[in-house]
Amino acid sequence: MITKDGPILVLGGLPINRQIIGIGKKCEPEKWIKGEKLSDEQCTLCRCGGSGNKPFCDGAHAKIGFIKLYSKYGAIIGFQ
Ligand code: FES
Repeated sequence: MITKDGPILVLGGLPINRQIIGIGKKCEPEKWIKGEKLSDEQCTLCRCGGSGNKPFCDGAHAKIGFIKLYSKYGAIIGFQ
């Protein structure tokens, strides 16, 4: 669930794992490698980019004034 001007609330115990980019022989990104498990419980994921504990929300969105801007038709048109 996306909260208004805040994080994504993850309900239902979805597993969240770190993903690492595997590099190929020509130094190109080749594949995703499953990394450490970060959570499998209810949590909040940062949507503003300001968290000091990514990928989780640490409340920084309130301090930086994260606000999503919507058009009159409900489409996301930017961030503030
Ligand atoms: S959404 Fe809360 S810190 Fe980014």
